[in-house]
Amino acid sequence: MAPTKYSLATRLPLQNGLSIPQIHLGVYLMSGREAGQAVKYALASGYRAIDSAQMYHNEAECGKAIREFLEDKTLNTQGLKREDIFFTSKLASNSDYVRARSAIKKSVETCGLGYIDLFLLHSPYGGKTSRLASWKAVEDAVKDSEVRIGGVSNYGVKHLEELIASKPETLPTVNQIEVHPFNTRTTITDFCQKNGILVEAYAPLARALRMKHPTIAELSKKYQCTPAQLMVRWSLQHGFIPLPKSVSKERIEANGKIDFFEIDKSDMKKMDGLDEYLVTDWDPVDAD
Ligand SMILES: NC(=O)c1ccc[n+]([C@@H]2O[C@H](COP(=O)([O-])OP(=O)(O)OC[C@H]3O[C@@H](n4cnc5c(N)ncnc54)[C@H](OP(=O)(O)O)[C@@H]3O)[C@@H](O)[C@H]2O)c1
Repeated sequence: MAPTKYSLATRLPLQNGLSIPQIHLGVYLMSGREAGQAVKYALASGYRAIDSAQMYHNEAECGKAIREFLEDKTLNTQGLKREDIFFTSKLASNSDYVRARSAIKKSVETCGLGYIDLFLLHSPYGGKTSRLASWKAVEDAVKDSEVRIGGVSNYGVKHLEELIASKPETLPTVNQIEVHPFNTRTTITDFCQKNGILVEAYAPLARALRMKHPTIAELSKKYQCTPAQLMVRWSLQHGFIPLPKSVSKERIEANGKIDFFEIDKSDMKKMDGLDEYLVTDWDPVDAD
């Protein structure tokens, strides 16, 4: 069968008329210097989206690398503009409206990109009152054109239901959660997909902890791809937005080259069956 459409150029349409690239470079656990370099490698190889956060302490370097890439005619051979690049950041902690609102403004200033494409509440921690107040701050940042779209991260179904029940002016466009074949989180992803909330899959490579798993090895051989490409492709074929992270130029390039094969239905099922609730980082989805 001919491989389907997914590539670094694939974008998913959004209700507000904008669109979101379906593969983003993750920059967690990168120093500022590493992030600046990785962002340039990624943009040069066709990535159009970067996933940062206040907690990563590299928003400034990511923004600088994006600006420098856009201005450098030898790198930016396609004449890309700011609006062609998608930059995400996240609120470090939920508190009250005033603090959240000013923290968002600070991120916009720090990245130096004029606006942030997607701004997320990084986790549900902090309790109901601060979650709802922080969400209101994201909505107002969108109204004030500091942010294009808003979303949440690490939200379990109960947090999404709480937000929906509060009748906000807008619902989150995205819920960014840990999702990979070793932690499929189908209860949350099904809820999101039923409610029109896009799932961003963090740790899509399972932090490189299962690259040698026999099923991953067998299917990588079958599809003549790397284990990382297999996992990125699995995520895309589920309709998720994977955020693979690497500091290496070769790996960044390879992880985005997923247009030459397609995982068939039975192998997708086989990969779904690898679920072992592997948590690679934190797990706030059940927080009070
Ligand atoms: N919202 C949240 O709470 C949250 C939490 C975690 C992550 N995230 C986001 O999701 C992104 C991805 O998650 P993650 O960074 O935790 O994990 P990941 O992308 O699943 O895995 C990254 C690890 O895989 C290695 N790697 C990358 N490509 C590889 C390849 N082709 N072959 C072998 N190893 C490879 C990387 O090492 P090298 O760098 O040395 O290549 C790194 O150790 C983060 O960067 C961040 O943007 C969000």
